[in-house]
Amino acid sequence: MIRRLLCLLILITPITNIFAQTSSTSEKKKMDAFVASLMSKMTLDEKIGQLNLVSVGFDVTGPIVSKNVNQNIEKGNVGGVFNTYTPVAVRKLQEIAVNHTRLKIPLIFGYDVIHGHKTIFPIPLGLASSWDMNMIKGTAAIAAQEASADGLNWVFSPMVDIARDPRWGRIAEGAGEDPWLGSQIAKAMIQGYQGSDYSVTKVMACVKHFALYGAAEAGRDYNTVDMSDRRMMQDYLPPYKAAVDAGAGSIMSSFNEINGVPATGNKWLMTDLLRKQWGFKGFVATDYTAINEMIPHGMGKDGYDVAKVAIDAGIDMDMVSEAYLDNLKKLVKDGKVPMSEIDASCRRVLEAKYKLGLFTDPYRYCNEQRAQVTIMKPAFLDAATEAAKRTIVLLKNSNNVLPLKSVGSIALVGPLADDHRDMIGPWSGAGDWKQSVSVLDGIKKLAGNVQINYARGSNITNDDWLIKRLGAGELGNENTSAQQMIDDAVAAAKKSDVVVAVVGESYTMSGEAASRSEIGLFGAQEDLLKALKATGKPLVVVLMNGRPLTLKWENDNADAMLETWFAGTEAGTAIADVLFGAYNPSAKLTITFPQDVGQIPIYYSHKNTGRPYAGDFIDRYKSRYLDISNDPLYPFGYGLSYTTFSYSDIKLNNSSIKPGQLLHVSATVSNTGKYDGEETVQLYTRQMVGSVTRPVKELKGFKKIFLKAGESQDVDFTISSNDLSFYDINMKYTYEPGDFKVFLGTNSQDVKEADFKLTK
Ligand code: NOJ
Repeated sequence: MIRRLLCLLILITPITNIFAQTSSTSEKKKMDAFVASLMSKMTLDEKIGQLNLVSVGFDVTGPIVSKNVNQNIEKGNVGGVFNTYTPVAVRKLQEIAVNHTRLKIPLIFGYDVIHGHKTIFPIPLGLASSWDMNMIKGTAAIAAQEASADGLNWVFSPMVDIARDPRWGRIAEGAGEDPWLGSQIAKAMIQGYQGSDYSVTKVMACVKHFALYGAAEAGRDYNTVDMSDRRMMQDYLPPYKAAVDAGAGSIMSSFNEINGVPATGNKWLMTDLLRKQWGFKGFVATDYTAINEMIPHGMGKDGYDVAKVAIDAGIDMDMVSEAYLDNLKKLVKDGKVPMSEIDASCRRVLEAKYKLGLFTDPYRYCNEQRAQVTIMKPAFLDAATEAAKRTIVLLKNSNNVLPLKSVGSIALVGPLADDHRDMIGPWSGAGDWKQSVSVLDGIKKLAGNVQINYARGSNITNDDWLIKRLGAGELGNENTSAQQMIDDAVAAAKKSDVVVAVVGESYTMSGEAASRSEIGLFGAQEDLLKALKATGKPLVVVLMNGRPLTLKWENDNADAMLETWFAGTEAGTAIADVLFGAYNPSAKLTITFPQDVGQIPIYYSHKNTGRPYAGDFIDRYKSRYLDISNDPLYPFGYGLSYTTFSYSDIKLNNSSIKPGQLLHVSATVSNTGKYDGEETVQLYTRQMVGSVTRPVKELKGFKKIFLKAGESQDVDFTISSNDLSFYDINMKYTYEPGDFKVFLGTNSQDVKEADFKLTK
């Protein structure tokens, strides 16, 4: 009885909900005291229960589903739940924890809120193309408002894995290839989700997948990663570090091994680097069944072995595998795992719950009325339209075919032209695709006077192998013969002034477990485009896809091309705005598009080599291919506008700087075309000589400027020695005096350059 009363007292003791990550010492002291007091009452079983994360519901991303969930919650065997949302569903499970367990410890509720919860924004690779940190932060803040109104308090986002291999389907979920830009985006997303405190409209972020998941060999999902320390530190780890520095509350371990040790059992990664070096204070959860997956990895023969490897490494929460639940107690009793490890992990999980205010009010996120007025409210849909517009990249525009005129007739064709499901993309679990706006809807609404001749034209693919894997229904395949579909589309084209073909991937072809060895359009769509080209009508290709595609034929033959990614709930509205010039495209690629899959990995910040290729066709003994140039189809930072921009030569305030001084770099950028437009001015540097070889270019900054037609603006940047730091021969993060180049330009290839020195 006394114990009960004490527990109740713990639960009703008022706790400030405003627990900033940068919290005052007194807030921290209160939390420490609360958690210590609670833990002093917990049994070993109850502590282990807090480390168990179960999946209840629908979105299963592995071979196993959690069983006996309600009973396990009641027994105190569950610390958190994911894949369930809505205030009602969450309340039901929370009630079991709060009313039926001895210590009434509330559950944490997570979900894959990746690019929006109900209002779906463009996929992260698309959002990154906006280079607009405020907007990106805003999309995460809206996702947090919706998710927290829908019962959730923990989101499995952002994914900050640098990826340079478009065969990997999960490239869709990240910010692209660049560590500096990736770090800015990681920070913006953490701020958007969490805010400066965990107020009720915010959620805790879970940064994933720690670490290096994007470097899976051959672009094959879940595959091995083997990487030098230098490359890790220089190119792949910075965005995770940026997320930690921004106060991320939690981190998810990745599936891959790193140099022989799976991330989930990697003590160097999880403890030495993450906690000791970076000072991470939050908790680490595994990815789906990742502890048990260390058995096939070869880290142990059974759950007992691998649970020990994981807890020793510093993993706090076990997602779905229940290896902790089944083995930790015995491991402690056998003297194999010290109690201090269980305590440390339990404490971190309880601290997260405390920060989220769950001990004050376990039903804090279960307000049906709030859900009703928040979810998909008009302001959020407007934000989704704005985001989608800002992420569409104009890849080609010969003879100013775009923007289209709001008169005459258009043949609108392609398997994605009247699609609703695919456009919200992979990882849009809670998104209601039925509410999404197709391109056909969007054009009808915007250009009412234009005659639209619609025909589907082809399925996304007729490849039997893919159909077996993904399902004809899931692909939206129609039963009409391929030839008939093409004939209908050609007939539509012939009676129209211009053809707009909406082609690409289904949402199932990017994202998790969606690696591809060929990354072009599929045969059926290629046949369609070729038949349309043969009509002689201007051909505008609108792409929807989650990864860079190989588009050589399309680039050679289409008159105009838009990369729209999977642009979310309002994709069709945004695409129509761009097609008809209500919005002048401004987005820039954050990932290189190869000409051919054989060039992968291809990225702008490569090394020079001892035999650099300089574009000459004949010179054989260079670092090059016999059959293709080294050039990408579209470089990092690339994206056109309906207007044109020109850059003056670079002006430097000095030809050299000392450590501690600032170099001012500027250029005049002019809008030389007919439309008002936005340009992303990009700043790159190159260190010419170093104690280790340095990349040919590294992004160090950018500015977005809006210029009216005919207008010019001076754009200024500063560079300091800190901006020039890197991991030197001794793996020390420092700068080295010497010669540098600085570049300003519209993408990573089209740049002006100047020289400067960093002196001692
Ligand atoms: C597996 C995925 O790798 C991860 O990104 C996701 O958050 C979890 N499943 C949970 O669904």
